[in-house]
Amino acid sequence: MLNVFWKTLVFGLAVGLLGTAMAADPIVIKFSHVVAEQTPKGQGALMFKKLVEERLPGRVKVEVYPNSTLYGDDKEMEALLLGEVQIIARSLAKFEQYTKSVQLFDLPFLFDDIAAVDRFQQSPEGQKLLKSMEKKNVTGLAYWHNGMKQLSANRPLRVPEDARGLTFRIQTSAVLDEQFKAVGAKAQPMIFSVVYQGLRTGLVNGTENTYSNFYNQKLNEVQKYVTESNHGILDYMLITTSDFWNGLPPDIRSELDRIVVESTAHANKEAERFNQQDRQRVLDAKTTEIITLTPQERSAWRDRMKPVWTKFEKEIGADLIKAAEASNTTQ
Ligand code: LMR
Repeated sequence: MLNVFWKTLVFGLAVGLLGTAMAADPIVIKFSHVVAEQTPKGQGALMFKKLVEERLPGRVKVEVYPNSTLYGDDKEMEALLLGEVQIIARSLAKFEQYTKSVQLFDLPFLFDDIAAVDRFQQSPEGQKLLKSMEKKNVTGLAYWHNGMKQLSANRPLRVPEDARGLTFRIQTSAVLDEQFKAVGAKAQPMIFSVVYQGLRTGLVNGTENTYSNFYNQKLNEVQKYVTESNHGILDYMLITTSDFWNGLPPDIRSELDRIVVESTAHANKEAERFNQQDRQRVLDAKTTEIITLTPQERSAWRDRMKPVWTKFEKEIGADLIKAAEASNTTQ
């Protein structure tokens, strides 16, 4: 009698446990970001979700929150560290609180073009930076491109003197602050979601961003001139916490690693397309004149802004700056 009782109990428990295992809730990855969906990052995030749902159905679920709907750029890092979100793709300009070396990417006129940025990011030095915040529980999974930054204002900016006295909205970055001071302007850090408002109300007079962000935030409605300066880059680091990533079942983590590689390729392809397309859209909107610089004019900006490098050389590391500069040549 007792034997039957125990057998029933063990059987019942086993069925219960099996049921629990089979009905286990999927791992949820909340991916929060601050830009529109029709941007390189927006599309990269959606591709990540699509591939995860195709390849890990029922095991991992991805929720994408665009446009600062869940967290703005002032809160997303904290949210990540608290486990409220599991992945963000944060602008490389916004890491100085966590690592000084990533400030490298903000140095004005460091990279000639996105191909050079890409070569550096894929180099051993670039890949090492992805792991520069491990002690703070932040792990870099990949770099995602947005593109080269352009200057904008309500007055034409052809030479550095034209920027004198203006206040430019910047991402929270000491390098960018110095970059604008170097041309006699002021800089005002501001979160991304309020840039349009800041420009509209005159709290700031100008800004810098990629064509894709400029057009998607409708900044053309509040900026009469864009100067095609290509003076710096706006790229992202796709990050998660080391605790979350290392705690994933190994088979899921390897599949996610593959998916990260594929979504990165997609975001980067989109970056090229969006920046060309959105440049054209700015022109078509007829709200904003795009000023192209002569080589002499561009050199004048470079001469004024480049001294900023020396101010950050110690924090960033002279060798790292050299390695990044070397990526401008192909061999
Ligand atoms: C900005 O604040 O201008 C950008 O970092 C926004 C973004 O994520 O592209």
